[in-house]
Amino acid sequence: MKDDNFLTENNARHLWHPMGAPADSHSTPPKIIKGAEGVNITDIDGHSTVDAVGGLWCVNLGYSNDVVKEAIAKQLYDLPYYSAFAGTSNPPAIEASYAVREFFAEDGMSRVFFTSGGSDSVETALRLSRQYHRLRGEPTRTKFISLKKGYHGTHFGGASVNGNNRFRINYEPLLPGCFHLPSPYTYRNPFHESDPAQLAQNIAAAFEDEIAFQDPKTIAAFIMEPIQGAGGVIVPDASFMKLMREICDRHGILMISDEVITGFGRTGDWSGARHWGVQPDMMTTAKGITSGYFPVGACMVGDKVADVFENDQTGEAGIFHGYTYSAHPVGSAAVIATLAETTRLDLKTNAAARGTQLFEGVKKLAEKYDIIGDIRGGHGLMTGIELVSDATAKTPMDMATMKKIHEATYQAGSMVRLGAHNILMSPPLTISEGEVNTILSALDTGFASA
Ligand SMILES: Cc1ncc(COP(=O)(O)O)c(C=O)c1O
Repeated sequence: MKDDNFLTENNARHLWHPMGAPADSHSTPPKIIKGAEGVNITDIDGHSTVDAVGGLWCVNLGYSNDVVKEAIAKQLYDLPYYSAFAGTSNPPAIEASYAVREFFAEDGMSRVFFTSGGSDSVETALRLSRQYHRLRGEPTRTKFISLKKGYHGTHFGGASVNGNNRFRINYEPLLPGCFHLPSPYTYRNPFHESDPAQLAQNIAAAFEDEIAFQDPKTIAAFIMEPIQGAGGVIVPDASFMKLMREICDRHGILMISDEVITGFGRTGDWSGARHWGVQPDMMTTAKGITSGYFPVGACMVGDKVADVFENDQTGEAGIFHGYTYSAHPVGSAAVIATLAETTRLDLKTNAAARGTQLFEGVKKLAEKYDIIGDIRGGHGLMTGIELVSDATAKTPMDMATMKKIHEATYQAGSMVRLGAHNILMSPPLTISEGEVNTILSALDTGFASA
């Protein structure tokens, strides 16, 4: 490894970073994170902070889980790679598929298709949902419906169902046949409705209206996050996902629950759908499936979809979709170890308790700072804080102030994430009470700097 001077001089010179403008990385070089332990990260200057981002909503086990690290290391020596395209398999892939199926059995999932990440999983679900309808003799069902503010990755299919124009406009035209409903976002919505249950009813009515307009026989699937993450941690009413499930069922539309963030305990339950008492037809996961230690995703399907593929009489059930790294042996070894550790440590229980602590702590800070316009969370370790410069007009906070708050919070002991004028937090699910207090006191300092 080159020395620190080399790293600083070459930082962002040759690497284009996702989700930012190259010139901005030149003028404000990214922080170089050199090490991590527990839930703490350390930068190149030796400054250590509690990582309230969990890497990127993914390091559920914290940074020091040796069981997962050793499983990855061992597998690299046993078999570092072999293709899992039809015709060959490998031992960890077989065991990981068994473990994933068991983990999500209560959600009604019975088969898994491994991918390299969340965007790949979403792409897989969208494509398989079209094929499912073709196999059933309804080839006109090709359209997708999703929610504004939703984030479903950055492949063309995923971006097309994304509900935030930042990820769309520069890449248009996107996939035709994708339509969006309002988000269950009580702070801002076209119905001017602040009651979450009523807002859920309004969106359900908009869904019915859109289905009638499009014709149900043209719609393949509806995709949603049980709690919208990157869009600002938007928690719907407890009735919302059930309402959407019932409408999907009535119109023969598949429901895809995008659990890339909410899977594996983050909501205080093992999946977001389970948190709301819903069984989807398909689930997309990634991130926490390996605690971010190795790039793996999974698209899961329930019996209804599996039966159509497995009992096909048309000869068209070949899944001509997949990735070189689907069911990668090292990734699969990471999945097996991560699921075992996630269960052994009962991460969901800590996520629920520490998530409530973080949410309540931020609510206390809101009594002190007018710039806190909305606080969202209270369902596990996902907390969003929307900052405004004028609370009455709900004017989004300007980026210069957001960056100032971010830096002051970081210097005071916690890394948080900015998503437009939101502060987003999703710390490791292993975090302690004291470490949550560190995040809260760092945020206090951050807000005071605005
Ligand atoms: C709900 C959701 N779906 C899909 C994705 C895309 O995952 P990836 O970045 O691994 O491609 C993300 C990433 O944050 C996500 O939050």
